[in-house]
Amino acid sequence: MSIVVNTPNGHIGRALALHLLDAGAPLTVISRDAERVADLAARGARVVVGSIEDEATLDAAFAGAEQLFWLTPPAYRPGFRPWVAALAGRVAARAAAHGIGRVVVLSSVGAHNRDTEGHLGPVGAMLDVEDAFRAAVPSVLALRPAFFMENLLREVDTLRATGSFFTVVPADVAFPMVATADIARRAADALLDPTWAGAVYRGVHGPRDVSYGELARLTAAATGQPVQAVQVTLDQARGAMAQAGLPDFMVQLLGDMYAGFEDGRMSPAEPRDAFSTTSTDVADFIQAQLAPALLGGRE
Ligand SMILES: NC(=O)c1ccc[n+]([C@@H]2O[C@H](COP(=O)([O-])OP(=O)(O)OC[C@H]3O[C@@H](n4cnc5c(N)ncnc54)[C@H](OP(=O)(O)O)[C@@H]3O)[C@@H](O)[C@H]2O)c1
Repeated sequence: MSIVVNTPNGHIGRALALHLLDAGAPLTVISRDAERVADLAARGARVVVGSIEDEATLDAAFAGAEQLFWLTPPAYRPGFRPWVAALAGRVAARAAAHGIGRVVVLSSVGAHNRDTEGHLGPVGAMLDVEDAFRAAVPSVLALRPAFFMENLLREVDTLRATGSFFTVVPADVAFPMVATADIARRAADALLDPTWAGAVYRGVHGPRDVSYGELARLTAAATGQPVQAVQVTLDQARGAMAQAGLPDFMVQLLGDMYAGFEDGRMSPAEPRDAFSTTSTDVADFIQAQLAPALLGGRE
């Protein structure tokens, strides 16, 4: 009775697949490209090649499966939220048809605020996904991770050009961050733990919250370069995204999410407990990943 993992090449899906193989769990992965999961196949994973939007692919993957890990790919497009909800509904129906009894869903911090103004962009879609699985499958554990530390790596060009983190959140306001490796560990823990059942919600956070002011200080210390946190308005953030060439629907989606950071709707609703508190400190992440990326390629 296997565990199905989609997105086996993503940050979380890849590390999760490796944890499950390490634990000796029977694993099925869905991938659009067999070559990119050849190493997982060599370690015993069953590979179903195809699109998660294709019912025959889902049926092939779900045959004989007991559990599913479902991560919504960040395949942003106009009408992203209805696309996400419809996809989750179709996947949940196929999972139920195959008798899959437990699903671990990768959701997001702030998902509970779906119905507030602007729907929090991509985050608002995550509660639709949770709901779709809960309506179809007996046991659904929604992981609601904080802001990924890996997002900092997207700031490399801006940091190099300006020495600044630009943020709609005041520089001294701390918010939760988490490393994707730790989310994968928690997803594996959940899939390998037979004791939970029903509708479960769990936060996944790093060991402490952190502000952009502290991120700037840590990055400066790790690189020996001056780095500052600069607060911008939501309109300035939207303008910068448009100027950088993001299409209108992306400016809208991300702007709606940033509005939630600005007014607190991205704050966690889930209690902090031993499960939700992970070990990677953002200072270590900056030292190990952001600073080398920033300093790499310098003469
Ligand atoms: N960033 C954050 O701070 C944050 C916080 C909370 C929750 N989240 C959620 O975390 C998820 C992202 O997790 P991640 O970073 O592990 O993902 P990721 O590394 O971006 O990987 C996603 C995978 O999705 C696959 N993919 C992309 N487009 C696809 C498409 N059109 N159809 C099928 N597959 C597609 C890709 O696989 P292939 O190319 O190999 O097929 C890719 O490896 C999102 O659902 C996001 O909402 C993010």
